[in-house]
Amino acid sequence: MDCPPCLLPFVSVLSLILIAVFLSVVIFWVDRQLKARRLPPGPRAESIPQDPRGPWIAFESLRQQYGSIFSFFRGTRPVIEKREIYSSRHEWSSRGMRGLSMPYGNTWRRWRKIHNIGMSGRASLTYRLHQTLESSLVLHGLLESPERYSYHIQRFATSVVLSITYGRRATSLDDELVKQNYRSILEFQRANIPGRYLVEAWPILLLLPRPLQWFRHDFDRIRAQDTILYTTLLREVRQKMDAGTAKECISSRSLDNGADLGFSEVELAYAVSAPFGTGIDTTSGSVEVFLSGLQEGARGARSCRRARPSFDDENALLYLGAFVKEVTRWRPIAPFVARAVTRDDTYEGYFIPKDTSVYGNTHAMMKGPEMLPEPEVFRPERFFDTTEPRFTDFTLPFGFGRRVCPGMHVALQSIYILVARILWAFDVEPVRDEQGRAVLPDPDAFRFMGLSRVPEPFRFTLRPRTPDVVRIIDAETAEAEERLKEWG
Ligand code: HEM
Repeated sequence: MDCPPCLLPFVSVLSLILIAVFLSVVIFWVDRQLKARRLPPGPRAESIPQDPRGPWIAFESLRQQYGSIFSFFRGTRPVIEKREIYSSRHEWSSRGMRGLSMPYGNTWRRWRKIHNIGMSGRASLTYRLHQTLESSLVLHGLLESPERYSYHIQRFATSVVLSITYGRRATSLDDELVKQNYRSILEFQRANIPGRYLVEAWPILLLLPRPLQWFRHDFDRIRAQDTILYTTLLREVRQKMDAGTAKECISSRSLDNGADLGFSEVELAYAVSAPFGTGIDTTSGSVEVFLSGLQEGARGARSCRRARPSFDDENALLYLGAFVKEVTRWRPIAPFVARAVTRDDTYEGYFIPKDTSVYGNTHAMMKGPEMLPEPEVFRPERFFDTTEPRFTDFTLPFGFGRRVCPGMHVALQSIYILVARILWAFDVEPVRDEQGRAVLPDPDAFRFMGLSRVPEPFRFTLRPRTPDVVRIIDAETAEAEERLKEWG
């Protein structure tokens, strides 16, 4: 049957669309085949292994199959896992406001300067007093309600982050300010779970008009709330600076340098808020790893004990420094780093196309042959009495290269003071079953949050080592509560 003349234009348009779709599919397929030939080896036709415990576990099985550099496709985007990596990241959820997921470039460099200055080794020393005072409250909390250990440690980590960011503290995790932040951060972490959002695999979706980008709607809603919260917090610091009552913190340092950095108020407010998203669960998770490992009688723990430890003991406590490094290595809280490549590159003969997602499996590296002997075993001695740079300069749990964690000095101080004081104060032991057998926590039971992971709840018993300990903790808590009033 002939087509009626009035339908002819529609038929030709339809044919053109079909031809265009067909050609796009062919071009996509050819392009993919060409790229795939020069990419590092990896699965092409078969599906990518997934693991509910986290992507680094799935990566491990691919590593065994394909070697230490491998690749696969997620939608149109190649994904590569290799050791030497690049400094950019893919960004779509925060509209360029969150530095953690900002692509490499000038804006990121200015953002990063804020954190390099605000959390440098030297700046971190000014936060020690607050960390010490807050650690007294953790000991008191553990004494009163050890089953709420996670709460006490997380409140500590939150308070430290608030104090270094805004010069104020968190007295409770129920503060509305803390709760709102936590909600935003969970959403942000969720957006960063590899493979969770279609747009990550199909960045072409970002060309849709904004109102049609359905995957952004939740994030835009949260962003509107965050903008109010972060600008309010920054303005409060400015007011305190004007009144001469501000504590030295990242915000006060940045407001002093505001003109140099060239950020608008909202951009600066977002920039200084970064430790909220990166510094709380990572710190508290590491201290929890220590508590759970301690029950296995983590070797040498007792030899770290000192009378009333403080930061002044640090040099004398070389073993404790090694102990803290081993805590961060043994069960790394951030088991991989996610990056993106800003231009085409060739690495070890492989082609790495611009915009490829690149994952560095630090979890595997920390269990690799560089960590010999016995990388699976908790062994602080590997960091002790050695001149080998891979141990003396060990910062792998904090990532590497230009995007290495700028909060690592603050984090190590937090972990150090809590580990030292918990060891001083308590005997931590496993609970016993009806037959009197020790029930040890599973050291590999974690909840993956998107960028980092936290240990699943575990049980233990905790006893003050001497009656004196209780008396000292009580006295120090009273003093700490008084002195912490300076932070509001
Ligand atoms: C044990 C605790 C911590 C661990 C294991 C940790 C680990 C990491 C890792 C692996 C990265 C990604 C690095 C990379 O891509 O190479 C990172 C980034 C970051 N961390 Fe930490 N972190 C910890 C604590 C902290 C703290 C306490 C703060 C701030 C107070 C902080 C602030 C940041 C920031 C702002 C970034 C983004 C850096 C960038 O993209 O340039 N972290 N952290």
